[in-house]
Amino acid sequence: MSDTTILWTRKDLQAATGGQLAGDVKVHGVCIDTRTLKTGDLFIALIGHNSDGHRYLGQALEAGASCVMAHDEAAISTAGLTDDPRLLKVDDTMQALEALGRHRRSRFGGRVIAVTGSVGKTTTKNMLATALAPYGQVHASVASFNNHWGVPLTLARLPEEAAFCISEVGMNHPGEIAPLAAQIRPDIGIISTIGNAHLGHMGSIDAIAKEKATLFAVLPSSGIALCPEAPQGLALLNEALPEGVPLWQAGTADSSAIRMTGLACTAEGSRFHLTTPRGDTDVELTAPGPHLARNAALALGAIAALGLDPKAGAEALCHFRPEAGRGQQRLLPGNVTLLDESYNASGPSICAAIETMALMPARRHLAALGDIRELGQFADAEHRALAGPLTEHDILTFCCGSHMKSLYEALPRSLQGGYAETSAQLASLLRPALQDGDVLLVKGSLGSNMRALIALLEQPVPTTPHAPESA
Ligand SMILES: Nc1ncnc2c1ncn2[C@@H]1O[C@H](COP(=O)(O)OP(=O)(O)O)[C@@H](O)[C@H]1O
Ligand SMILES: [Mg+2]
Repeated sequence: MSDTTILWTRKDLQAATGGQLAGDVKVHGVCIDTRTLKTGDLFIALIGHNSDGHRYLGQALEAGASCVMAHDEAAISTAGLTDDPRLLKVDDTMQALEALGRHRRSRFGGRVIAVTGSVGKTTTKNMLATALAPYGQVHASVASFNNHWGVPLTLARLPEEAAFCISEVGMNHPGEIAPLAAQIRPDIGIISTIGNAHLGHMGSIDAIAKEKATLFAVLPSSGIALCPEAPQGLALLNEALPEGVPLWQAGTADSSAIRMTGLACTAEGSRFHLTTPRGDTDVELTAPGPHLARNAALALGAIAALGLDPKAGAEALCHFRPEAGRGQQRLLPGNVTLLDESYNASGPSICAAIETMALMPARRHLAALGDIRELGQFADAEHRALAGPLTEHDILTFCCGSHMKSLYEALPRSLQGGYAETSAQLASLLRPALQDGDVLLVKGSLGSNMRALIALLEQPVPTTPHAPESA
C-alpha cells in the first residue's frame, strides 16, 4: 500500500467504533506505538501491563498522527485534546481496536489465511507472504503480531484492495486462540507444528493440540486445513474440523496431500519436489534447515489450498531469508561462524537448530544454550532431553541458566564445554574456548538474553600477546 492510500475515513472510523470524531481526518495507517508511527497514522492509546498509550497522545500528534483514539478523559484533558478535531473518543480503546479489525474483515473481498503452531508461525507466515506475492497484493502480520492486540491490529491495517491477508495467531494459555480465530475468520488454517512450547501453562501435548485445533473449528465448509504430516494429537485436529473441511498434511509420506519427494538438505539450503492437488513444482531454498523445508511445503500447500498452482510461489521462495535471530549466519572475530538463533527457544526449535548446524562443515560444532522458559514442572525433563540430539551430533555445549544446568549435567563429560548462571558470564567462559573454523549455535528464550552473549563475542579479539592462558 502506498503511504497516500486512505485506509480509514472519519465516517468508517465512527461507524466501526461508535466513537466521536469531529475532524474530517484521513488515516493512512494504524499504529499503537509512537516509536513506529508514520505520518498520517491513527494512533490508538492502548493500556498494557507496563504502559498506558494515553501518555503519548501529544507525542503521537507531534510525530504526524492524523488522528488519535483514546478513552481516558483525564489523559485527554491533560494532553489538551478535549476539543481537538483529531481526537476519536471511544468507550474503550482495546474494544474499539477489535471493532476496527472486525469492520475491515467484514468488508474484505480477498482470501484470508491464519497460521498458528508451537514453533514456526512467523517463519511460515513470512514464507507464505513471500510465496503469494506473485499472485496478488499480500497483507500480513508485522513481526510476531499474533496476540489480543496483534491480531486486531493486523486486521485494522488490512487494505481493501489486497488479494490476501495472512495473520499469525499465537497462544500461551488455553482459550486464547478461539477469540482471535473468530476475528480473523480464515478461509485457510495452517498449524505449523504441534510441540512442547508453553507446556507449563498448557499441561499436556493433547491440551496444546486441542487449543491449536480451535483455529480449524472456525473454517467455513469451503475452507481447507493444513498441518505437517502425522502431528501429535492428529485425532484431536480431525475432531475439530467442521463438516466438509479437508485436512491436508504436508510431508514425505506417500499418503500426504502435500507431498515432498527427493528432499536433500545441505548447509547451502534444501531442495525437494512438491506434489499438491493443484500442481507439482520443484522447490529450492537458499536458507538451510529441514524445518524450513517443512515450513515451505506448508506455505506452498496453502497456495494450492487457495486453488492456485504453486509453481510461481516456489520460485519466489528461492531467496527467502528468516527474520533476525532465527538462523542467520555470520562470522565472529577469530573466524568462528555464528548460527544466530538468539530470538527464542523451545525444545523443537533447538532440535531444528541442531539439525541445521550439523549440516554446516566445521572443525568443531559448539552450542551456547540459555534457558527455555514457560515449561513449568516439565522444565528439567525437557531440558535434559536435549542431551540426546547434542550427543548424536557431537556438539560441545556451553549452558547458562538454572534449567540448562539439568541439561549440562546430563551431557557426557567430553561435551561439557562450560556452565555459567548468566549469558554474560557464559561469554567469558566461551570466548577463550573458541577456535578458528568453529561453528557456534547460540539459542535461548528471549528472557535468557543470549543476544548479550553474542554482543560480547562480537567485540574484537584482544591482540595482547601476553594474555594469561587461564584468563
Ligand atoms: N517447523 C519448525 N520446526 C522446528 N523449529 C522451527 C520450525 N520453524 C521455525 N523454527 C524455529 O523456531 C524458532 C521460532 O521460529 P518462528 O518462526 O519465529 O516461530 P513462532 O512465530 O512460532 O515463534 C526459530 O528458531 C526457528 O528457526
Ligand atoms: Mg512468531
